[in-house]
Amino acid sequence: MSELKKIKDEFLSKLKESSDLSEINKIKSELFGKNGLISLQFKKIGIIAESERKQFASDLNVIKDELQNLINLKIDKVENLEINKKLEKEKVDITLPERSFVRGKIHPVSQTIDEISSIFSEIGFSVEEGPDVENEYNNFTALNTPDNHPARDMHDTFYLDEKKQILLRTHTSPVQIRTMLKDKPPFKIIAPGRTYRSDSDQTHAPMFHQVEGLHIDKNINMGHLKGCLNYFIKEFFEVDKIKMRFRPSHFPFTEPSAEVDIGYEMKDGKIIVGEGDKWLEILGCGMVHPNVLKNVKINPKNFQGYAFGIGIDRLAMLKYGINDLRSFFDCDYRWLNHFGFDPLDVPTNYRGLSR
Ligand code: DAH
Repeated sequence: MSELKKIKDEFLSKLKESSDLSEINKIKSELFGKNGLISLQFKKIGIIAESERKQFASDLNVIKDELQNLINLKIDKVENLEINKKLEKEKVDITLPERSFVRGKIHPVSQTIDEISSIFSEIGFSVEEGPDVENEYNNFTALNTPDNHPARDMHDTFYLDEKKQILLRTHTSPVQIRTMLKDKPPFKIIAPGRTYRSDSDQTHAPMFHQVEGLHIDKNINMGHLKGCLNYFIKEFFEVDKIKMRFRPSHFPFTEPSAEVDIGYEMKDGKIIVGEGDKWLEILGCGMVHPNVLKNVKINPKNFQGYAFGIGIDRLAMLKYGINDLRSFFDCDYRWLNHFGFDPLDVPTNYRGLSR
């Protein structure tokens, strides 16, 4: 038997018997390591008689390939076996009910934001975000609220530097600016998020939530704004009819501007939304001021649109019968357990928002 055949037969049977990776790797280095048997055979090619050299080299290559392939196959096989063994041990039965786990609850504000996003996404709005720490320009100046404008005083701003250039955004309106600066019209976006003002009582918190809306396109008018808000309020409160009124107002970034009230009545100490003869203000809105469009390099002759800003916390309080705004931020586990929502029950338009 030639030496090559002997090597091959010896290692084939060794390989057959081996069953773990370290053994196989040992075989591999015995054959192909620096001083491995096959490697040594290759060194012999140079000293072999010329008449036999060609045949020897060809046989050696065949055997080398064969052994290498077998070793690789064996490694794959053993690795697979080991993975399967591991998986067998770590098996998780995903069909088991998770009833025994203690589940967290979704905060009513998060739930309300999800509901709002779901409603607006249905009519083509996408969601944008902006940072809580804003610059003065985006928060005020670009929104047509220059220095010394009286509207600035109404915002009780938290400034973060002495020059009053950096601040905690007082509303979500700066996201309008960020959105319009980074892209070209048309725009149809909402921007929910945190906002900050130095104010605190039963209906005001220094940190609260708003959702901004912005729709810019050709020939957009107040009728579109009214239709959009009417649809939103009905969907949000899950009612077929809603009493709603637009009251003339003033915001520097819209012209004309309006505040929207919805009708309500008190029944057994509870607020019933959509009926009655009392009015509750829930949002500010209007047609985007031409100066705002100019500030973001949009020609107001070509593009117009509407914007709105809704107080999220107030909507959540109304819908879920929560009467103190501060309780939202108390981190009281019992409160959250009572008012919170099932984390697995994500609000969608088709399955129902708050069920
Ligand atoms: N930013 C206003 C506020 O916080 C709310 C608002 C009013 C937003 C009118 C708008 C708007 O986009 O058009 O009081």
